Amino acid sequence: MKIADRTFIISGGASGLGLATAKDLHSQGAYVSLLDLNASSGIKTAQALGSRARFYETDVSSTESIQKAVESTVAWVKETGKAIGGVIAGAGVGLPGLIVDKKNEPLSMESIDFVLNINLRGTLDLIRQAIPHMTINTPDTPDGERGVIVMVASSAAFDGQMGQVAYAASKGAVASVTLPLARDLSRYGIRAVTIAPSLFESNMTKMMSVKVRQSLEKAMEFPKRAGQPEEFARLVRDSIENMMLNGTVLRLDGAMRMPARL
Ligand SMILES: NC(=O)c1ccc[n+]([C@@H]2O[C@H](COP(=O)([O-])OP(=O)(O)OC[C@H]3O[C@@H](n4cnc5c(N)ncnc54)[C@H](O)[C@@H]3O)[C@@H](O)[C@H]2O)c1
Repeated sequence: MKIADRTFIISGGASGLGLATAKDLHSQGAYVSLLDLNASSGIKTAQALGSRARFYETDVSSTESIQKAVESTVAWVKETGKAIGGVIAGAGVGLPGLIVDKKNEPLSMESIDFVLNINLRGTLDLIRQAIPHMTINTPDTPDGERGVIVMVASSAAFDGQMGQVAYAASKGAVASVTLPLARDLSRYGIRAVTIAPSLFESNMTKMMSVKVRQSLEKAMEFPKRAGQPEEFARLVRDSIENMMLNGTVLRLDGAMRMPARL
C-alpha cells in the first residue's frame, strides 16, 4: 500500500507509539488524521506537522465521538482528494488489578469495562466506522489493494502478568480478531495486521517505577532495553507497504517473554 498521498487515521496519535507513527507516515508523504483524548498534545502535534495533519479530539470508547471524527476526516479527504489508505488503532490504556485483592475483593467491573471499552471496543468501533470509506477506494495496484488496518496488541496478549487480566483480555482479543478481519476484508483488498510490542518508551511506560522497568528490561533477551517508538513506527510502515503481511500478529519484543511477576 502506498503511503504518500493517502490519509491515515491514527488513534492515540497524540502520544507514544501513535505519535511516532504519525510523524513517520507524515515524513513519507502521508496525510494524517490524529484521534486522541489528549487535545493539548494533539493540537500541538497537528500544528507542528502542518497542512497534511488534522487533530480531532476523540474518545474511542464513545461511538458518537468516533463517528464525529470519522465524518470530519471524510470531509477533509473530500477537500484534499487523498483517500483513506489505512487505520492505525493505537489508543490504549492499562489499569492493573488482581482478579481478587488481598482483602478478598474481586476486581471491579468498572476497571474491567474501562480497559475493554478503550482497548477492544474502541479498536473495533473505529475500524468498523472507517471501513466503509475504504471499501469504495479505487485500487491503485494490480492486486486491487484498497487499504490496511494496523492494530496494537501487546506481549500481554500471550504472557500476561499478575494483575493484567483486563489488559490481557483486551489485547488477546485484538490479536484474535486479526485473522477474521483479514478474511472479512479480503474481498475488498483491505489487509489487517496486528503488532504486539513488549516494553516501549512512551507515556504509558514512563509511569512505571524504576524497579518494574529494570525487571522488564532484564526479561528482554536482546537488546536489553525498551524499544524506541520509532522502531514501532518502522514496523507500521512495513505493515502498510508489504502486501504479504496480512491476518497476522507480529511480535516486536526483543525475544522478551514476560515473567509471571516482576
Ligand atoms: N509502550 C509500551 O510498552 C506498550 C507495550 C505494548 C502495547 N502497547 C500499546 O500501544 C498502544 C499505544 O500506547 P503508548 O505506549 O504509546 O501509550 P501512550 O499513553 O503514550 O499513548 C496512548 C494514547 O492513547 C490515548 N487514549 C487513551 N484513552 C483514549 C480514549 N478513550 N480515546 C482516545 N484516545 C485515548 C492517550 O491520550 C494517549 O495519547 C496502546 O494500545 C498500548 O496498550 C504499549
